[in-house]
Amino acid sequence: MELHYDMIRLAIGDREFFAPLDNPRKMLDIGTGTGRWPVEMSEFFPNCEITGTDLSAIQPVSVPPNVHFVLDDANEDDWLYSPNSFDYIHTRMMLGCFEDFREIIKKSFKYLRPGGWMESQVRFSVVALAVGRVSGADYSKCRSSCRSCIATMGR
Ligand SMILES: C[S@@+](CC[C@H](N)C(=O)[O-])C[C@H]1O[C@@H](n2cnc3c(N)ncnc32)[C@H](O)[C@@H]1O
Repeated sequence: MELHYDMIRLAIGDREFFAPLDNPRKMLDIGTGTGRWPVEMSEFFPNCEITGTDLSAIQPVSVPPNVHFVLDDANEDDWLYSPNSFDYIHTRMMLGCFEDFREIIKKSFKYLRPGGWMESQVRFSVVALAVGRVSGADYSKCRSSCRSCIATMGR
């Protein structure tokens, strides 16, 4: 997950966020993984309360005082927070994690304060084929197998 995180960071020009944030007070990172994003964001926004949620408690214990991690399943009907409370809700690399991403967007709007921002970053793969090693037909077979697995999972 850490390597993946670095890959995405490089791919998006070493950026943590793109939303035009103006002195945010509360932000949420859904599916925070190893919690690197909240920790990095705390350097930009030391006065913002930053919460990272995940299904697994794999985040570090020693983090800046404005960063908190909470176990929470974003697929649940209700989240643990007050509606209209966040200035910014972020997800990165969460495609396929939710039963229905549209529901997550709807719920995020419920928990964002008016004028708040939601930002979701995802990666779409394009494989550069090495001549003689992977044929286009093999890649397309692999892609359609992945699609049918994802459909079987109902995602
Ligand atoms: C691909 S990782 C992305 C982690 C992190 N956002 C990053 O960019 O490094 C997906 C993470 O989402 C968490 N996750 C999956 N389903 C979730 C859910 N329903 N609610 C909260 N977290 C979830 C997983 O436990 C995992 O840590």
